[in-house]
Amino acid sequence: MKAAVVHGKGDIRVEEYPTPSAGPGEMVVKIKASGICATDIKTLLGQGLPKHLPTILGHEVVGEIHELGAGVTGFATGERVAVYPIAVCGECHFCKKGRHNLCESEFGLGHGIEGGFAEYVRLPKEIVKIGGVVKMPESLSFEKAVMAEPMSCGLAALRANRVEKGDTVLIVGAGPMGLIHLKWCKSVGARVIMADLLDRRLEVAKQMGADLCINSSTANLKDELKKATGGNGAEVVITSLGIPAVIEESLGLVRKGGTINIFGGPPAGQPITIDPRWLHYEEIVLTGSFAATPDDFRKTVEMIASGEIEVEDLISDRFSLDSMLDAVERAKNQEMVRGVVLFD
Ligand SMILES: NC(=O)c1ccc[n+]([C@@H]2O[C@H](COP(=O)([O-])OP(=O)(O)OC[C@H]3O[C@@H](n4cnc5c(N)ncnc54)[C@H](O)[C@@H]3O)[C@@H](O)[C@H]2O)c1
Ligand SMILES: [Zn+2]
Ligand SMILES: [Zn+2]
Repeated sequence: MKAAVVHGKGDIRVEEYPTPSAGPGEMVVKIKASGICATDIKTLLGQGLPKHLPTILGHEVVGEIHELGAGVTGFATGERVAVYPIAVCGECHFCKKGRHNLCESEFGLGHGIEGGFAEYVRLPKEIVKIGGVVKMPESLSFEKAVMAEPMSCGLAALRANRVEKGDTVLIVGAGPMGLIHLKWCKSVGARVIMADLLDRRLEVAKQMGADLCINSSTANLKDELKKATGGNGAEVVITSLGIPAVIEESLGLVRKGGTINIFGGPPAGQPITIDPRWLHYEEIVLTGSFAATPDDFRKTVEMIASGEIEVEDLISDRFSLDSMLDAVERAKNQEMVRGVVLFD
């Protein structure tokens, strides 16, 4: 098969690669669409690059079932499916509580095993057995369905942040994930303020319904937020970027009794300072969200299919696998909202 193969830091090549086959309990999916996530780009550039190379990145995968391994029931080849990308044990403390994304022995597509920037992908039995292969309704296009994975991470954050109607939410970082938070927060009736350094990104946020956009390279974010909230700050602050210094600054933007969510994955070895008096006396909830549960994923697929949540406007660029290097460049330079690799 053809695949975009990672050989080392920053070294990705479109080349022939062995086509996977399905062992007992496994499946092989012929990929129809594969989403490009900031996490893939971070990994490619070295943050969390797997030890065993070469490998294939990509964890946002939809397609048709190509091969079913021995013992897999309830599915047929040719069925259209969206894939929850995390392989989990289903038996540890966290899996039993439905918090599969925190599984003690988790691994997943593009993170431990080969992922979705290829014509075919093998799904391990750990994904199949927990219901991670979700059948898509006929009416749902592959393009829309491929947004289910990143959207589900936003739904997980919405749940963790307990955003309510009328809350003011500040989203720091108006990249694709920031826009996804915007969509979910608006869907429950929150007022959303977005901050970024790039006007072109804030422009997109405005078009998608942001109530206020602040360019923090030209305006003082704290002052502007205060002005917009009667001096209070935001009930919920989501840091949708992985820069520790920006996360630290964002702590001061939350209102008393509010919640801060560290959503973007920061690099190792860069701690930040937190005043325990502030956490205590202001009853601040400091939380994080990492990926999503299979339940979040299934619910997101349903909501996209029913049209309850709109995703098409997130897709700005469509690529073929042959133009993967171009896609990586555009993603690195933050030139697109969301890029999707489409297959015949
Ligand atoms: N938790 C999860 O489940 C999950 C899922 C997907 C992605 N992520 C992570 O979420 C983060 C955001 O993803 P993305 O695809 O939107 O990334 P992105 O890099 O495209 O977006 C980050 C944005 O932050 C802006 N920014 C940088 N410095 C800023 C500052 N000082 N003030 C305001 N804005 C600033 C950038 O201009 C950019 O638009 C990444 O770290 C990604 O790895 C987390
Ligand atoms: Zn992702
Ligand atoms: Zn587990």
